[in-house]
Amino acid sequence: MNLPALGSFPVRRPRRLRQSPALRRLVGETQLNIAQLVLPLFVRSGRKLRHPIAAMPGVFQLSPDELLREVAVAVAAGVPAVLLFGIPERKDAKASGAYARDGIVQQAVRLLKKEWPDLLVITDVCLCEYMSHGHCGVVQQQKSGPRILNDPTLKLLARTAVSHAEAGADLVAPSDMMDGRVAAIRAKLDQQGFVDTPILAYAAKYASAFYGPFREAAESAPGFGDRRSYQMDAANANEALREVALDIEEGADLVMVKPALAYLDIIHRVKTTFGLPTAAYAVSGEYSMIKAAVAQGWLEERAAVLETLLAMRRAGADILITYDAVNAAKWLREK
Ligand code: PBG
Repeated sequence: MNLPALGSFPVRRPRRLRQSPALRRLVGETQLNIAQLVLPLFVRSGRKLRHPIAAMPGVFQLSPDELLREVAVAVAAGVPAVLLFGIPERKDAKASGAYARDGIVQQAVRLLKKEWPDLLVITDVCLCEYMSHGHCGVVQQQKSGPRILNDPTLKLLARTAVSHAEAGADLVAPSDMMDGRVAAIRAKLDQQGFVDTPILAYAAKYASAFYGPFREAAESAPGFGDRRSYQMDAANANEALREVALDIEEGADLVMVKPALAYLDIIHRVKTTFGLPTAAYAVSGEYSMIKAAVAQGWLEERAAVLETLLAMRRAGADILITYDAVNAAKWLREK
């Protein structure tokens, strides 16, 4: 005993509980579980198409046939859920492709649910991929410049959500950040008989530099300006709680914080304040950062990815949306 005693007490030794892998697991406070993983996927029309996303090694825009192959791998790895984004053939100023009965996401949902009835298919409900200008809402030219209109957007979002539910989506996930969208979507879903379709609201979604690679993947970069008039300011945390409270009031069944890694404090406050099932979205830039460092030999991929996912769980996230879902599932199985 070389350490000095603290008064009459023996020296405290926290390292006692870190002596072996089994002991460390026994006292581990947080667990990563395959059941918590959601894999985002990008689908576009065509055949045999696997178009790589330069900034996201291992992620592709997939035609429906290739989507089936990709999801087969995910299902085999035990990933329970996917989150679908669509790239339409044509974009216009009213986002017609978003709510078309035979739109690309609607087709993909039908295909996936037919093949894997038990797979949870979540759809991203937004207009930016379908709008010629790349914004998440309806744009009107005004004297002061173009504006993203809130209320006229709600109808299109609700229509989009219903068309996804009609195709068989298990959950719909609005990511547009318009005010009142959850209420609008809930009302329309209920009216059309989809009372049991849960809404996973991107409740606290920040205007983030970390969405950069996604906009290449989804071909949804705004044609002018940025998204700061509807997505949240990185400086704000109390406002995130107000946003989440509104979405819950409007009928959100699950809530999301996005991005994840730079917003762990928000995840924690949302979970402790509301106690709802809470999702963390490890966004494209978070994925790219690690992959770039791994490619340089500067980080160890598996350890780095699992550590970030564990941090999201520790902060309070129940659900982890990550482009590394299949890798994570494989790594967790090997453990
Ligand atoms: C659509 C949407 C975006 C993301 C998810 N849904 C892009 C954006 O808001 O610009 C980003 C996801 C990612 O970066 O992985 N509104």
